[in-house]
Amino acid sequence: MALDVDAFKQVLGRWTTGVTIVTSRAGDTIHGMTVSAFTEVSLEPPRVLVCAEKSSNTHPVIAEGGVFAVNILARNQAALSDKFASKRDEHLRFEGVDWTTAQTGAPILPDTAAALDCHVHAAHESGDHVIYLGDVLWTRCDPDKPVLLYSSGAYGDFKG
Ligand SMILES: Cc1cc2nc3c(=O)[nH]c(=O)nc-3n(C[C@H](O)[C@H](O)[C@H](O)COP(=O)(O)O)c2cc1C
Repeated sequence: MALDVDAFKQVLGRWTTGVTIVTSRAGDTIHGMTVSAFTEVSLEPPRVLVCAEKSSNTHPVIAEGGVFAVNILARNQAALSDKFASKRDEHLRFEGVDWTTAQTGAPILPDTAAALDCHVHAAHESGDHVIYLGDVLWTRCDPDKPVLLYSSGAYGDFKG
């Protein structure tokens, strides 16, 4: 019997995550989207992964540019998460955002809790997503900024 997709999504929603905006650059093109599928992979060498839907606009930019940055959002950045997840006005996502760059040229967003800049080590297609493994070239962290959380389709933060 085929798996119930809605039940599967409901289970995945119970897995509480942080929220990132993964950005990339290919030549003069920059793009980025909200991503919760971010995981540490290795400390030596320093390596992380992100999963990008094949149908996303971000995936081909990472594939062509071979770089990505992971911007880990702070508690007060839910609106930025929604902006980078919305399919409306996606070409305006960076408008009014005072982004910079670090090593690779992928956009580093301001006022986040932390950020990583990565060179793509490998890409593995799996179903409707591509898993991008990235070697970490640069990091920034603001330990005093509380992080944004996401669980069962809602934003939240740590209490206490
Ligand atoms: C909290 C949250 C987490 C998300 N996580 C992912 C993810 O891990 N991978 C992914 O491909 N899309 C994820 N999305 C959906 C994309 O952000 C959304 O489809 C976006 O519009 C894609 O933009 P693009 O097609 O311009 O690249 C997430 C959305 C939200 C709100």
